[in-house]
Amino acid sequence: MDKFLIKGPSKVRGKVSIPGSKNASLPILAATLLFDKEVIVKNLPRVKDLEVMISLLKSLGSKITLSKDKKTAKIINPKKMKTFANYSIVKKMRGSFLVLGPLVAKHKNSKCSLPGGCNLGARPVNYHLEALKKLGMSYTLKDGYILAKSKGKLKGAVITFPKVSVGATENLIIAACLAKSKTTLHRCAIEPEIKDLTNFLNSAGAKIKWSGRTCIIEGVNSLKQTEYSIMSDRIMAGTFCIAACINQGDLEIENINSKIINTELNLLRRVGARIRCIENKIYIKGPKKIKSIKNIKTKEYPGVATDLQSQLMVLMCKAHGKSNITENIFENRFMHVAELRRLGAKINIQKNTAIIQGVKKLVAAPLMSSDLRASISLVLAGMSAEGESRVDRIYHLDRGAENFEKQLKKIGVNIKRVK
Ligand code: EPZ
Repeated sequence: MDKFLIKGPSKVRGKVSIPGSKNASLPILAATLLFDKEVIVKNLPRVKDLEVMISLLKSLGSKITLSKDKKTAKIINPKKMKTFANYSIVKKMRGSFLVLGPLVAKHKNSKCSLPGGCNLGARPVNYHLEALKKLGMSYTLKDGYILAKSKGKLKGAVITFPKVSVGATENLIIAACLAKSKTTLHRCAIEPEIKDLTNFLNSAGAKIKWSGRTCIIEGVNSLKQTEYSIMSDRIMAGTFCIAACINQGDLEIENINSKIINTELNLLRRVGARIRCIENKIYIKGPKKIKSIKNIKTKEYPGVATDLQSQLMVLMCKAHGKSNITENIFENRFMHVAELRRLGAKINIQKNTAIIQGVKKLVAAPLMSSDLRASISLVLAGMSAEGESRVDRIYHLDRGAENFEKQLKKIGVNIKRVK
């Protein structure tokens, strides 16, 4: 199993370009199942989760041609498609569950594996299933599979999600595109990745409109051919901004619309970073003294992104004074805390709040990744600590961070991948 060796402390200097967004690519690729005309999707990130989604679509019958650089996919679906989403694939990547909505909408049935839990918590899919039922899908659960079907086309409905859910919102928007008449979804997630999905579908003739957290979808008979370029990855952009705040870094981050990480940029301004945003670039200089921040709370967008929580925690480990971070989205997203303590971080957990007492110095140690974002934060911690840290199980990181070590090396980090 690959691991990283990182020599710290290191400050980052130079330019990074942000790749396409993993969390926009997954729903958009799942949505291609609605099409029977050619679809071209560009600016895909080269990460393992995308490989899994592409292998899932191919297992369903999609004909997919990838460009040499693997950033563009040309997809055409034959009339006859399979509708069996195998556990062997779905268990690798929860986002695979997003194929359920389009398969039932287009083919009126699906045998789709329930995704397993993951390190962040139980992560049920009840909101997806209850809402799809309201569109006319019926299902039974057998041997860990959802056996779903609909008598004829799905029918539009008015649905209010019990809680904001990114995946459930995406599954329903996709399914409603081909449903009869109008579907109104209340209490939707409004992450930029969901707006990207909306723009993609509307570029193919779907009729989706937004008003706050309400999404209205007028069903259409079919979607047209389209070519679409995925948005940049705001979580990777936020990660590099945080990296610039460790040891007074100085970065030019290009290919990112700074508005979509405005909440996090304002937080880093409070930490003491100097930030300028011009067109699709962010110029950021880290502070000499990292200011502690009280009451950082992760929330649904436009709140502080839960996917940046562990990275922010690394930064607070060397802030002057006490900070606290409350995780409101997942029940178990502090797996990185025990690892940060191994470097000498002073972190106390009270229910879903981490209280971090800043320390002057972190000292290198062997570290273990537990999920994608935690593994990224352990790399940042290795950059912040003195000495050589080792980060194990970086297959977690390879799921969603394209060429991360190459990008870090280019901006001055002493990092290498070893077997
Ligand atoms: C998406 O996960 C992202 N994944 C996550 O990113 C991200 O952390 C999360 O949204 C929150 O922003 C992708 O986009 C592929 P949710 P998702 O449904 O859709 C509970 C990463 O590292 N819930 O908004 O699974 C759920 O357990 C990943 O890229 C139910 O109870 O998130 C969680 O506590 C990690 N029932 C909360 O809602 C449901 O049916 C939010 O989950 C659905 C969700």
